[in-house]
Amino acid sequence: MSAPFGRGVRIAGTGRAVPACVLTNKELEKIVDTSDEWIAQRTGIRARHKANDSETVFSLGRDALLKALERSGVKADELDMIIVASVSGEMICPSTAARISEAVGAGEAAVFDLAAACSGFLYGMNMADTMIRCGRAEKIAVIGVEVLTRLVDWGDRSVSIIFGDGAGAAVFVADADPKKGCQYQEMHGDGRLWRTLYHPRLDRDVPAGDEANPIRLGHLRMHGREIYKFAVTRFQEAIRDALERTGLSVGDVQHYICHQSNQRIIESAIEKLKLPAERVYINIDRYGNTSAASIPICLDELFEAGRIESGKPIILVAFGAGVTWASCVWNT
Ligand code: ACO
Repeated sequence: MSAPFGRGVRIAGTGRAVPACVLTNKELEKIVDTSDEWIAQRTGIRARHKANDSETVFSLGRDALLKALERSGVKADELDMIIVASVSGEMICPSTAARISEAVGAGEAAVFDLAAACSGFLYGMNMADTMIRCGRAEKIAVIGVEVLTRLVDWGDRSVSIIFGDGAGAAVFVADADPKKGCQYQEMHGDGRLWRTLYHPRLDRDVPAGDEANPIRLGHLRMHGREIYKFAVTRFQEAIRDALERTGLSVGDVQHYICHQSNQRIIESAIEKLKLPAERVYINIDRYGNTSAASIPICLDELFEAGRIESGKPIILVAFGAGVTWASCVWNT
């Protein structure tokens, strides 16, 4: 869908925050039956950040937002809304967004958490654009943050090697130019596939038919191969649709920012769609899969490096548990 309203949206500032501790594949070899070589070859991951007890979804999200606010020149009490995309918050009630709002001094901004796993930040970004574009809000902060290392069973080598912790945030503001901001967006889900990745707390959460392997309650349960097959197809379809529906050629796009789930999934899209590899941002080697934080961390690194040029489109694509997937063509 094209931009329907009389004004646009601009990313005024971004920020990120990651735990101090870096856990390399070599160090993981001492915890679980795996190897640096296997992880690097099958996923592209070399290291990930791991939170300590005092680094939380709340604290990382807060710190990422503080940096984004500082860079944007927007004051916390000017925000109309704070959306926190996460599936690993410390408390279900109140929302992490509420606690972050208090911590940064956002006054009476609307606050809520959004649970769409790895697609969460992109869901939030698309919603922020729509709210601002139609005049319902002027300034919205979206934070993607996870501490998934607290939810993994370190003995489950198919899961524990993948995830990392971190946070990224962006402040979105109204812009007079309707060509700025989201020019095309899609958000989808398929609840029939939720069993491919879930976090059972009690026996009753474990779906029938999935009792075969010993399931450690309180830990993520993932059917990696099924997700992989689904993600490969969806990534390619999402990018192809975004290009076709906006009339862009692969070379018109300055950056492809894909959720960093597995480097092979991203590489298959590069190969199939003949994307210019140097424009497909990859940092999974340093962060692992940080779920909802993955896309805003990429965005922040690109902005920080001065690599986002004004007036050129970027394409963002994510998929995650639920299952969910989303895309966006964003004019900077
Ligand atoms: N180290 C060494 N060997 C391993 C490891 C490991 N960490 N994990 C699995 N293996 C072994 C298996 O035991 C198996 O051995 P076998 O052939 O002797 O039985 C072999 O490697 C292949 O196992 P697969 O599970 O088929 O490995 P695959 O190539 O599929 O890679 C992976 C597994 C990395 C999990 C992959 O499936 C994947 O990335 N899937 C997508 C996961 C994902 O993106 N999840 C996040 C979803 S998004 C969200 O919302 C959080």
